Amino acid sequence: MIIKTITADGFKNLKSVDIELSPGLNLFVGENAQGKTNLLELLWVMTGVRSFRGASDKNFLGFDRDCIKTLITYRDFERDCILTYDSKKGEKLITVNGVQVPRLSKLFGNLRAVIFTPDDLSLVSSEPSLRRAFLDLSISQIKPGYAAVLHRYNKILAQRNAALKIQSRTDIWDEQLIKTGTHISIYRKTYVEILSRYAKKIYGEISGERETLNIEYSSNVFKNFEYSHEHYKNRLSSHSEAEFRLGTTLVGIHRDDLNLTLDGLSVRDFASQGQKRSSALALKLSQAKILAAETGDAPVILLDDVLSELDSRRKNFLLRDLEGFQTLITSCERAVAGKTFTVKDGYIYA
Ligand SMILES: Nc1ncnc2c1ncn2[C@@H]1O[C@H](COP(=O)(O)OP(=O)(O)O)[C@@H](O)[C@H]1O
Ligand SMILES: [Mg+2]
Repeated sequence: MIIKTITADGFKNLKSVDIELSPGLNLFVGENAQGKTNLLELLWVMTGVRSFRGASDKNFLGFDRDCIKTLITYRDFERDCILTYDSKKGEKLITVNGVQVPRLSKLFGNLRAVIFTPDDLSLVSSEPSLRRAFLDLSISQIKPGYAAVLHRYNKILAQRNAALKIQSRTDIWDEQLIKTGTHISIYRKTYVEILSRYAKKIYGEISGERETLNIEYSSNVFKNFEYSHEHYKNRLSSHSEAEFRLGTTLVGIHRDDLNLTLDGLSVRDFASQGQKRSSALALKLSQAKILAAETGDAPVILLDDVLSELDSRRKNFLLRDLEGFQTLITSCERAVAGKTFTVKDGYIYA
């Protein structure tokens, strides 16, 4: 996948941006607060995934602007495509190849990207929810049906929780919960097997084969991945009393996690900062490579301010590994060779 041109005006601080990208490395250089991350955020939002900064649509309009105008042309493995996103006084017009879609999330599945930010470190060092979100996005990008099943599960879960809160019976939700939950667990198991293989290889190369990274899917429901309906049901009923007491569903795929270990020791609890950074990098690189392999089309790579965080060994490794992907890199200085753009006060010049 290659982004050819980006035209943008009024998205956050971006003003009359009109640029043509190189199919290889693109470097966006500028001081702080000039609009580098805003540009990557705009592209990310155009992939149909919520802003990585957690910003909502309402905050996208530039402070002194009355409309957002965006047009992105890109080529996927078979054709040229056009995405547009215009917003004026809260009225949005979003199109894919001339066909209107009701909201940004409906763009999902068109332009595909993987974004690396310094926050990726929290992927390995913080709560399971971030690792689940990583898994869910990774799988959704290659399996369109996954997001729909997940959405269904979350709706059923919310209804079941509501029933628990008012001490009402849950059995009408249980069948559906078990069915969708099992489905999701199978998807996750399959993905993590592939992820583990890729990440092990990548981590080995980054670390000079000094340590071995292992990734395992930690299912909250299934032991040894025998997908039995009976077992799921028993797990639920054994927590029934506590569930009514707490008013929430205690067992299920919404409590799954990924276990990352280096030579058998938990990355989260024992790894050094450098080892954590390499592990996070290995996860993200794996995500990109799996997406490329599974869809036959390499995603666009967005690197927001990550090069300065890496030592030269990791930096060189990352850039070498990303050859073959179109890459957009933001940084405060011209750190690598590539088509270079200057970012200043929301303007971007070639
Ligand atoms: N809705 C908005 N309208 C105008 N400016 C905004 C908006 N949201 C954020 N900004 C500004 O964008 C700047 C940050 O841009 P950013 O792309 O993160 O900078 P950097 O070049 O350091 O990556 C800040 O000065 C911030 O105030
Ligand atoms: Mg930035």
